[in-house]
Amino acid sequence: MKKVECIIRPEKLEELVVAVEQLGISGLNITQIAGYGNQKGQTDTYRGVEYEVKFKEKLKVEIVVDEEKVEDLVDKILSAARTGEVGDGKIFIYSIEEAVRIRTKEVGKEAI
Ligand SMILES: Nc1ncnc2c1ncn2[C@@H]1O[C@H](COP(=O)(O)OP(=O)(O)OP(=O)(O)O)[C@@H](O)[C@H]1O
Ligand SMILES: [Mg+2]
Repeated sequence: MKKVECIIRPEKLEELVVAVEQLGISGLNITQIAGYGNQKGQTDTYRGVEYEVKFKEKLKVEIVVDEEKVEDLVDKILSAARTGEVGDGKIFIYSIEEAVRIRTKEVGKEAI
């Protein structure tokens, strides 16, 4: 099992969820986060006043899947979340040792 964690633009959430559901994925987590990438310290202008925005609001979406789904999931994320402009986000992939469905006590693949 792998956890696919992606940091995306908040406005891309709906598109991403629709794309991911096409893969028959049964659960996911969403967290509001703030962070920065390569363009740290960039400026924004609000009512003519330029100010520094160090942290950008993004969404973190975490999905645990069977290994055979990882490639398709990454493709779906790329097609849903990419604009081609800076700030599109990142995808991080982690190995998951174990999963347990509490209700049934199922473990591993059966639990996700
Ligand atoms: N190395 C990293 N580790 C953890 N989180 C990161 C990392 N890089 C980016 N992020 C998170 O992803 C968000 C979006 O990053 P972003 O897409 O701007 O990356 P980038 O490397 O600057 O790429 P780009 O040049 O396309 O903007 C950041 O605001 C931050 O929350
Ligand atoms: Mg950036």
